[in-house]
Amino acid sequence: MQIKKIALGVLASGRGSNLQAIIDNIEAGQLDAHIRIVISDVKDACAMQRAAQYGIKTCFIDPKQFKGRENYDQVVAERLKAEGVELVILAGYMRILSSTLVREFPYRIMNIHPALLPAFPGLHVQRKALEYGVKFSGCTVHFVDEGLDTGPIILQAVVPVQDDDNEESLSARILEQEHKLYSRAIQLYSEGRLQIEGRRVRVET
Ligand code: GRF
Repeated sequence: MQIKKIALGVLASGRGSNLQAIIDNIEAGQLDAHIRIVISDVKDACAMQRAAQYGIKTCFIDPKQFKGRENYDQVVAERLKAEGVELVILAGYMRILSSTLVREFPYRIMNIHPALLPAFPGLHVQRKALEYGVKFSGCTVHFVDEGLDTGPIILQAVVPVQDDDNEESLSARILEQEHKLYSRAIQLYSEGRLQIEGRRVRVET
């Protein structure tokens, strides 16, 4: 049977380790997806270099050329649509999406966040989790809505906090889980197994 590969568009601004994990899982035959394009707001982002190494199309869209987030996101949306992207993957993308982009891809944008939402939305969340003294943290894959890290939760992985953890060690252990969790969520989506009921995302078996 021919397996349908979902067309992904990845938005990334930095290191790109989640992008790399997705590429690796596709290459290993564990993720039925095809990355159509990687778009970045940072010209020389490491993520762009990683994509180029694998012959994946890259596109830098310079925020300085646009007035306001909506105008920028309109161009991003047009590019994603032109590439036939079915699911948009935020992988360390450092811009907050405007409603323009979110509305173009309703429940078709995923993000990964390095904490157990709804605890610790925003930035530097591994440090905030440590400072707060939580015993468990982890990562969350969620659909993107118009709020900041507020969309329906798809999957979460729990990472225990150790007494001798610092920001770096906790971040590294969370990242290990991110690299597995994101591909799992994308695979579930591509198999049509995610049912959204209000805020709840049910995984069909
Ligand atoms: C990850 O920790 C992810 O959860 C957050 O940004 C970081 C991106 O890392 N949204 P990378 O660029 O994928 O290595």
